[in-house]
Amino acid sequence: MTHFLALETSCDETAAAVFTDELAVLSSVVASQTDLHAKFGGVVPEIASRAHLRNLLPVVDEALTRANVALNDIGCIAVHNTPGLVGALLVGVSAAKALALGLGVPLVGVNHVASHIYACRLAAGCDIFPCVGLVVSGGHTALFRCDTPLSLHLLGGTRDDAAGEAFDKVAAILGLGFPGGPAVEREAAQGNPKSHDFPRPFLDDGRLEFSFSGLKTAVLYACHGQDVKKAAPPGPGPKRADLAASFQVAVVDVLVMKCKQALRKTGLTRLAVGGGVSANKPLRAALNAMCVKEGAELFIPPLSLCTDNAAMAALAVEKWKRGEFAPPELDAEPNWL
Ligand code: KG4
Ligand code: ZN
Repeated sequence: MTHFLALETSCDETAAAVFTDELAVLSSVVASQTDLHAKFGGVVPEIASRAHLRNLLPVVDEALTRANVALNDIGCIAVHNTPGLVGALLVGVSAAKALALGLGVPLVGVNHVASHIYACRLAAGCDIFPCVGLVVSGGHTALFRCDTPLSLHLLGGTRDDAAGEAFDKVAAILGLGFPGGPAVEREAAQGNPKSHDFPRPFLDDGRLEFSFSGLKTAVLYACHGQDVKKAAPPGPGPKRADLAASFQVAVVDVLVMKCKQALRKTGLTRLAVGGGVSANKPLRAALNAMCVKEGAELFIPPLSLCTDNAAMAALAVEKWKRGEFAPPELDAEPNWL
């Protein structure tokens, strides 16, 4: 049996995991930097890189301890080397190279977006390919035809903001803090989703593309009227909750409809959904209802595997089996795919 140690530092979570070539996850440790970035209302790349430098080795130690595996027993190092913030990725990639070199074991570089889909495979405990894959995170919103874990064909992406970015920006407009997704979800639970009829771009036109920036602007104007520059965020109460609920249902409607269109277009009967926004409970419920109606099988990981983590880098096992090892000059690649 081969033990893998995987590192994730693409954005603002420093994570390490230990798993086996049989896809048993022995530990998964995530150190969030939310507190460091909250006062800026978003992730500050330089602060993220420096925090990864401080956190990475303690997180690796913790992952090894929890897995009860010694560093010398690790047979392969995996790292998300793309996409992400370049300075943040560099910390994980440099550490992974040093570990692989020092231990004399292979290094495997994996794509963070493909790993979000692979989290579904990991949680399912069985093969889920071929499937339609939806990745909805802070940086990405995209639909794929996933023939195998390593061959993802883009069906369509966002033209502007990612879904998670829209949640974060709407949270800022409503004064709900950072990160926005969970805060908007909590607020929306108190509101009326029918109170505002927000736009649902490209809903019925068959294009497998997304656009969320107009929706965010519509929330801004519904919140403040035309006087957006002077306005302070609304305080707690029905107005704020109604805006959050109406925004959230518009995002959910678009994501569910695009998944339905992708299933019909590809003729596939499995849908795998990953990324931070897939932690959203109303989205999970609506996707489930759609898949039941369409006769499709839905795969969404538990919440701990939706948001950024290193266990999903078990995708590296697929590359390792094929002997697809990274060269010593493996680089951090900020652009995706
Ligand atoms: O996948 P992820 O952890 O990091 C990236 O790769 O970007 O996704 C983070 C994003 C953030 O925008 C966050 O607001 C959003 O996922 N998010 C949510 C929820 N939990 C996290 N969005 C909606 N509802 C949630 N419950
Ligand atoms: Zn992610």
